[in-house]
Amino acid sequence: MKNFEQKIFNYLAARLSPKRFEHSCNVAKLSVELASIYGVDVLKAQTAGLLHDCAKSMTEKALISFCVRKRVKTPNFKALVKYAPQLLHSFAGEIIAKENFDIKDRDLLNAVRNHTLGRPEMSMLEKILFTADAVSYDRKFPFSAKTRKLAKTDFNAAFKAVMRAKMEYVLNKGVWLCPKALETWNFYAV
Ligand SMILES: [Fe+2]
Ligand SMILES: [Fe+2]
Repeated sequence: MKNFEQKIFNYLAARLSPKRFEHSCNVAKLSVELASIYGVDVLKAQTAGLLHDCAKSMTEKALISFCVRKRVKTPNFKALVKYAPQLLHSFAGEIIAKENFDIKDRDLLNAVRNHTLGRPEMSMLEKILFTADAVSYDRKFPFSAKTRKLAKTDFNAAFKAVMRAKMEYVLNKGVWLCPKALETWNFYAV
């Protein structure tokens, strides 16, 4: 294993629960598979998959103060803090990828940043991570297995199914829907 990968593994192993660590490895695996099918840089896909939840073990309080301290720019920051502070982990993750792992590649940083809410005009790497996160091998719902398979043959259909499932989850729970997620949906759904 190369030094860079080892450093990421060590960082994650020290911070994430075994379940979350396994999830990150599974997201990396599926991201690599999709990247190689669709002509995306596999090393970037692997790194993005491994790092995407690197801030996930932080408490909501720690995430909020981290984002304030680092002046992290997020859409709807006040509402995120109030209604869904856990979603800040993707934005904090981008900063950790930049500062702890010296990642400068904008596309890779965007993939980590946008893996929860998405955004209009995502790159293929961003869309791959967004999709792989939702249907990685550790996700045991029938929807995940079906959509994972679909992603390998008709990526856009799988991507759209993931966006839809994420929206439905929020609506069914009856909780706050981030305008950024709706913006992503509106950009890609029609
Ligand atoms: Fe995440
Ligand atoms: Fe994740």
